Amino acid sequence: MTKRRVQIVEVGPRDGLQNEKTLVATADKIALVGMLADAGLCRIEATAFVSPRWVPQMADHDAMLRNLPRRAGVVHSALVPNEKGAQAALAAGAQALAVFTAASETFSQKNTNCTITEGIARFEPVLALARQAGVPVRAYVSCALDCPYEGEIAPHVVADVCARLHGIGCDEIAVSDTIGRGTPQRTARMVEATSRMVPVAQLAGHFHDTYGRAIDNVAAAWSLGVGIFDGAVGGLGGCPYAPGAGGNLATEALVVHFEALGIETGIDMAVLQNIAFWVRSLASIDAGSRNRHEVTPA
Ligand code: HMG
Ligand code: MG
Repeated sequence: MTKRRVQIVEVGPRDGLQNEKTLVATADKIALVGMLADAGLCRIEATAFVSPRWVPQMADHDAMLRNLPRRAGVVHSALVPNEKGAQAALAAGAQALAVFTAASETFSQKNTNCTITEGIARFEPVLALARQAGVPVRAYVSCALDCPYEGEIAPHVVADVCARLHGIGCDEIAVSDTIGRGTPQRTARMVEATSRMVPVAQLAGHFHDTYGRAIDNVAAAWSLGVGIFDGAVGGLGGCPYAPGAGGNLATEALVVHFEALGIETGIDMAVLQNIAFWVRSLASIDAGSRNRHEVTPA
């Protein structure tokens, strides 16, 4: 039997930094992406072409992406909410795009000021531009387990949103536990429902680690065939429009988990640990996946 492979997607420069109040220097962000590539990460979500009024930390998206040193075998992606973002990201050299919606209407409104259906409609021109440019498109589905405003989300609701995204041509769908409240049992039910609608090879797991359960959720998704997982170096991160969103699962934890299973990740832990140490010294960053506590939604 051939050994299964895992793909680790680094989202630290985008999801890890977007919630930091103190602006991180563009040069430091560029250095971070370079160091992550040195560590062996091949897919790096570098920035977000979203409204700078909504997420000020990502306002330097253009300068950042344009000045990233290109490296063979390393794909720099950009998060985009609409055609305007896609145009700018591709012009700046994005090698992959990521769109985002949610399995919760309230979260969709809070995060993107539109309904789920309106959000998905905005992805059609993004996909057309991506096809022209020959770049792949990932779609995130936030609140795939819980919503900070609506509570638990039923698996069939998540599966339905994923099916719609797959239907319009998204290449990969990242089911996302935005606030880290998921459990392995509920992750399994959500992945089972979703993988009936979308080939499991096109699913990715994006688990925030607020309550220390992200790695167990990874294990649950892996046992059902998911082979792509997101991490942020040092466990950085959170979403500005998700009260209670703790950091992402640390990329280091993913590497340790899979290497212990005998699955090579190609990532150098020593280099990664140095990056985690360095990135925490930047600006006000004191992140660690589990050092933030949930607050009552506004
Ligand atoms: P809106 O206010 O409804 O949009 O925002 P609008 O079309 O009325 O535009 C308002 C202003 O934004 C205009 O500028 C547009 O030009 C500008 P103004 O004329 O006022 O100066 N604008 C843009 N600027 C730059 N890039 C763009 C862009 N589009 C419009 N692409 C919008 C709608 C979607 C733009 C806004 O809600 C937004 O930017 N939201 C982003 C929120 C965000 O980034 N959240 C965090 C990322 S998602 C996440 O973290 C979850 C994830 O990690 C998975 C998980 O864990 O769950 C992915
Ligand atoms: Mg996230």
